[in-house]
Amino acid sequence: MINIQALENEILNSIQVADTLEAIEAIRLDVVGKNGKLTQAMKNLAQLSPDEKRQAGQTLNSFRDRFTTSLQEKKSQIELVLLESQLQNERVDVTLPVDGAASGHLHPITRVIDEVTQIFAQMGFCVAEGPDIETDHNNFTALNIPETHPARQMHDTFYLKSTSEDGSPLLLRTHTSPVQVRTMMGQQPPIKIIAPGRTYRCDSDQTHTPMFHQIEGLYIDLAEKVHMGHLKSCIETFCRTFFDSSTLPIRFRPSFFPFTEPSAEIDIGCKRTKEGIQIGAGNDWLEIMGCGMVHPNVLKNCGIDPEIYQGFAFGMGVERLAMLKYNIPDLRTFFEGDSKWIQHYGFFPFATGYRTQEDVA
Ligand code: PHE
Repeated sequence: MINIQALENEILNSIQVADTLEAIEAIRLDVVGKNGKLTQAMKNLAQLSPDEKRQAGQTLNSFRDRFTTSLQEKKSQIELVLLESQLQNERVDVTLPVDGAASGHLHPITRVIDEVTQIFAQMGFCVAEGPDIETDHNNFTALNIPETHPARQMHDTFYLKSTSEDGSPLLLRTHTSPVQVRTMMGQQPPIKIIAPGRTYRCDSDQTHTPMFHQIEGLYIDLAEKVHMGHLKSCIETFCRTFFDSSTLPIRFRPSFFPFTEPSAEIDIGCKRTKEGIQIGAGNDWLEIMGCGMVHPNVLKNCGIDPEIYQGFAFGMGVERLAMLKYNIPDLRTFFEGDSKWIQHYGFFPFATGYRTQEDVA
């Protein structure tokens, strides 16, 4: 029979010095594993007389209880130490200053389209869209633009090789006005839409890019419900809201478009200085959009009876509005894709009140 006391001392001692979970497991196997010392001693009990067996059995059982308890205690101690050190090592200092997460910027074009859309949405307009590639009919003919009009010439309009059903060449729309045609062809009045989008002209210099953006507006209703006075107040409300100036001088200057009659161009008061253009001050004028009462021929071409319905339309250049409102001097920079430019002139995307991320910091 083994000397239990000596074994117990030896084992309790080794538990005391163990300082890893692996060591604890090794001790457990050494004592109560399949071939462990205690397991072995238990097996050996079989050889003893019944009296001896009872006595030795009790001794071994109580040793096993003490062993299990102290091994478990030691194991918990080690686990606690491990947890402590893990908590120390993985501690996050929430007071450290953060690097602002890099975020993109909204392009001024996107921003201005959003602003204009919001203002007209307040007046009950909804957004309509049309394709960049148009038919000659939607871009010119239906809009009462005569065959001889200079805008139809090759040096003004990008024509495609492919043709539409009527055999005429397809083209890149030169204005957003074909969305008027598409909308009127598809629904009866009342119609109250604005249509932002890309437009194209065969033109490239300091103040023209071959692709640019326009926003079109169209309101058609029963003739007694909509007249030029509504056009005027709608445009005035828009300009004063967009440029955030209740006293902004606004002028309606008689003009001509084949698709409106009468037609006007809208000028806003400004002052031209060496630094640029100052809106709302001085006694100079700046043209910002075209408008007019929709020509009866256009209504007829789109299946709307001009004896019953009438309305107004307007169209404006988005780049122009963006340059004026946000003091962006050079049109060409809009489309260069320069990341420094967009950081400077772009907008923080998550809060409309902020200009750029830098302003927020
Ligand atoms: N389509 C015109 C242009 O591109 C603008 C406009 C739209 C004028 C609607 C009157 C009415 O210049």
